[in-house]
Amino acid sequence: MKKLCLLGLVATLATQPVWAETTPVALKDKDAFVSDLLKQMTLDEKIGQLRLISIGPEMPRELIRKEIAAGRIGGTFNSITRPENRPMQDAAMRSRLKIPMFFAYDVIHGHRTIFPISLALASSWDMDAIGRSGRIAAQEAAADSLDITFAPMVDISRDPRWGRTSEGFGEDTYLVSRIAEVMVKAFQGVSAANADSIMASVKHFALYGAVEGGRDYNVVDISPVKMYQDYLPPYHAAIKAGSGGVMVALNSINGVPATANTWLMNDLLRKDWGFKGLAVSDHGAIFELIKHGVAKDGREAAKLAIKAGIDMSMNDSLYGKELPGLLKSGEIEQSDIDNAVREVLGAKYDMGLFKDPYLRIGKAEDDPADTYAESRLHRSEARDIARRSLVLLKNHNNTLPLKKSATIALVGPLAKAPIDMMGSWAAAGKPEQSVTLLDGLNAVIGEKGKIIYARGANITNDKAVVDYLNFLNFDAPEVVDDTRPAQVMIDEAVKVAKDADVVVAAVGESRGMSHESSSRTDLNIPQSQRDLIKALKATGKPLVLVLMNGRPLSILEENQQADAILETWFAGTEGGNAIADVLFGDYNPSGKLPITFPRSVGQIPTYYNHLTIGRPFTPGKPGNYTSQYFDDTTGPLFPFGYGLSYTTFSLSDMALSSTTLNKTGKLDASVTVTNTGKVDGETVVQLYIQDVSGSMIRPIKELKNFQKVMLKAGEERTLHFTITEDDLKFYNTQLKFAAEPGEFNVQIGLDSQDVQQQTFELL
Ligand code: NOJ
Repeated sequence: MKKLCLLGLVATLATQPVWAETTPVALKDKDAFVSDLLKQMTLDEKIGQLRLISIGPEMPRELIRKEIAAGRIGGTFNSITRPENRPMQDAAMRSRLKIPMFFAYDVIHGHRTIFPISLALASSWDMDAIGRSGRIAAQEAAADSLDITFAPMVDISRDPRWGRTSEGFGEDTYLVSRIAEVMVKAFQGVSAANADSIMASVKHFALYGAVEGGRDYNVVDISPVKMYQDYLPPYHAAIKAGSGGVMVALNSINGVPATANTWLMNDLLRKDWGFKGLAVSDHGAIFELIKHGVAKDGREAAKLAIKAGIDMSMNDSLYGKELPGLLKSGEIEQSDIDNAVREVLGAKYDMGLFKDPYLRIGKAEDDPADTYAESRLHRSEARDIARRSLVLLKNHNNTLPLKKSATIALVGPLAKAPIDMMGSWAAAGKPEQSVTLLDGLNAVIGEKGKIIYARGANITNDKAVVDYLNFLNFDAPEVVDDTRPAQVMIDEAVKVAKDADVVVAAVGESRGMSHESSSRTDLNIPQSQRDLIKALKATGKPLVLVLMNGRPLSILEENQQADAILETWFAGTEGGNAIADVLFGDYNPSGKLPITFPRSVGQIPTYYNHLTIGRPFTPGKPGNYTSQYFDDTTGPLFPFGYGLSYTTFSLSDMALSSTTLNKTGKLDASVTVTNTGKVDGETVVQLYIQDVSGSMIRPIKELKNFQKVMLKAGEERTLHFTITEDDLKFYNTQLKFAAEPGEFNVQIGLDSQDVQQQTFELL
């Protein structure tokens, strides 16, 4: 593949990973180039650049090529191989102005190699691992001729009923913002114009994770302070990191759809944040302005969207159909169209496509003989990253790690489920290349040990749910039931369990249950599997639950039944091996929850950093008039930041360098962490801050920093955290971002609940 040196851009090999670099490399002369090209374009050609079309099996390729050659398509998505995309680029090169196409795809958590789902990546709290996953995804996607991804998805999700919780990085603004920055830099590398980089387009702008009731596509109604304080920072972080694109959310915000929202797209994104890139609508979103009830017809929808600053229209024909008439009638101005075209051309420039339209497509003779070849995968990296994302939730009596000499009963509908292992948004991943838990355990079990398998249950016995989960899979149904009666399957599993030393049950959700359009009203493991768990528990054998799911589940009962619980989310191509590494103790689990686990769905929302209230519930003092649900224990099942290890860690008392902080000064909070157990391990030391009293109510605590450290058994290390005024700033009722003098609590712990605290004053 060609490596280019673009307009003075030197793609130096960085000494540190690209995601740790601070300034994206700017390309010179872009404005002049784009302005010059714009002058040569006809209206038809301009509008053509604003069309982004989805390539589907039903699309006649010849027609598409004809449209491209006529300058009527700006880019495509869903065509993901070099042989598929080359003829389309050839067609663009036959067009009058030879403006290159770009090729886009949803590269969310891997491309050919599938990494753990985003929520799992966040569970690693390991910026290096997360960055590596993004960089490899970019390299694999670029090698398949892709120029841009619709990622990272950084929607804060605090309602696990929302199926797309799986696709984001959790509930916390600080953690998600850090990851947003890392992912953008990992995708784009030193420059988005490099042959092994792809452009990022952060999504879904904005606030998609705050849909009411966790129901997908629902409205978002949110206070300005909450929006600025909690939900907007991750998008801003991605933009500050240089994200070349933004995908606009499908939802409305306080009564105005994002796709028609001039405040969001112009005032906030472009004016306040200085975004100078490509804004793409989500699928069919311009047309949906009619459904939202803000446009009476397609003409008005196109007008609202172009006026709001939506540059490219994803998969609807309204721009093509309506913009010429709108311009003619004076309802929109030439500059509305030109501004949008400028951004499309600018993005193509930034992707390096004007310099070489075949930058990522390459030459036909260099095409991989087999797109899906094993040699194209990054298995060892996927295994390493996946095991870092697993969270040990319970380990009673050191049930884990398992002995390699043991007879292990492996049961559950997810034990042998290659498709589910990949998670949703598995891009170009092939299920036959993903390692199931059964494969993973079998590969590690010793000579004396044995794995005996029985399915034990279907994902669910609810036929309507199975039909729903299968309705979108055109090729083959994803959720395939074992047709035997439920009791027969349970009996078989119980028999297998009785013959074993320990039972490992792989239970949870099929991947489609945590996906777009997969909101749930309940967060239980489906009843078919709960019946199985109950029967396994009754055997008296030690019971290990391996959870696979894309959102927090309410597992109150299972937490009582199981001896050990390992949260594995959907762990990707190497999932089975990574889980086996942890189950057998070849890797000591180090993941921490990036989202709170509620006790029940009725408790939602349960995010840890909620606002302080006048009558808080006080543990141990259940009085009548405090804030609680009287019919269940207050508080989450597992708090944000929680996760166990096969070793134990202790923290010394925190030392604060001073009890006062000047506005321009720094405070040092230090703590010594010791590995007090018998094996080496990693943990995440977390720092939270609480503004005790201010001009408005502040959260009970907020994550402001963390460090993941590896310590050998018996080793100790002193960690230092710097606190400055910036860490204390917040958006006040006037939306002014400032810190207020007064008292602050600083807390350090290994999760968000179990913390030690000291106090200082901002002068
Ligand atoms: C709709 C989804 O909301 C969005 O995230 C995705 O990028 C597009 N479809 C394209 O697949």
